Amino acid sequence: MKCKVCRRPAVVDVRRHNAAFCSDCFLGHCRAQVERAVKEHRMMGPDERVLVAVSGGKDSLALWDILLDIGYQADGLYIGLGIAGYSQPSGEHARAFAAARQAHLVEVDLPSDFGYDVKTGAAADRRVPCSACGLSKRHVFDRAALDGGYDVVATGHNLDDEAAVLLGNVLRWDVAYLARQRPVLPGGEGFPRKVKPLVKLGERETAAYCVLKGLDYQVEECPMSAGNRHLGYKEALNAIEERSPGTKAAFYNGFLDRGSALGAELCQDEREGLHPCPSCAAPTTAAVCAFCKLVERAGGDPRRRIPVTAL
Ligand code: AMP
Ligand code: FES
Ligand code: ZN
Repeated sequence: MKCKVCRRPAVVDVRRHNAAFCSDCFLGHCRAQVERAVKEHRMMGPDERVLVAVSGGKDSLALWDILLDIGYQADGLYIGLGIAGYSQPSGEHARAFAAARQAHLVEVDLPSDFGYDVKTGAAADRRVPCSACGLSKRHVFDRAALDGGYDVVATGHNLDDEAAVLLGNVLRWDVAYLARQRPVLPGGEGFPRKVKPLVKLGERETAAYCVLKGLDYQVEECPMSAGNRHLGYKEALNAIEERSPGTKAAFYNGFLDRGSALGAELCQDEREGLHPCPSCAAPTTAAVCAFCKLVERAGGDPRRRIPVTAL
């Protein structure tokens, strides 16, 4: 097989594009897909300060690397979730990348900064771990971005993640989640803008990117995500993709083109009626926000400050 761009021997094939690439052209392809996503969805301007949420996995490290290569002022944010055997190596990968690229990594640790971990939070709040984890991460993303003066938070959600979430939302016709499932969520009072610049890249591509660039990432999945519904949706979509390459991208992109505009209005309505949480100041419609309830039930303190140093 030859590289589609330069005709040298190819090392990676991307079946949905019916194309193969040599190493250099593949890295260029990944960067171009991020640039296209940023431009198409007006994610961020060249002078904005970006906080990249980095888990230490392939997607978020590839994203941070690409944004730095493009020239963004991109700092990382790593959240220690207190998951035994998983959080420590994840943090080490994030720190090693930051040191190698001389980039700034903001760190927040749930056990030492808030006095709880995902497992105790989930048990105390009677949630599945992924739900307690997601709630905690969203809260910390927002707070760290606002405290550090960042314009936008970028996460490493890729095409496979978004297509799987979309399938789940469609299977349940969860209109409120569908309304929010866009690659850019505008900022507002108490919210930073949130963007997903990897929506045009699949996870096979982000893994190949890291391997070809020599980025060492956390390969093991979170032990608490076993049996997670989204993993099942991913497998189902992969089986379809195997038979007809391109279906996953057509499913997700078709939604963005035709379906997601319907939700924009609904999303706006949802933000009406929000007020600052009396405990942590995050926007909420409840008397106390869900994050503060969870942390208090788990015996922690949601008011502890996040140690963010703005540049
Ligand atoms: P996940 O929810 O684990 O699929 O991760 C989705 C995205 O959330 C990742 O690509 C990261 O951008 C971000 N993320 C996940 N875990 C962490 C973490 N521990 N610290 C910071 N960001 C994270
Ligand atoms: Fe959140 Fe596993 S990373 S529960
Ligand atoms: Zn609160």
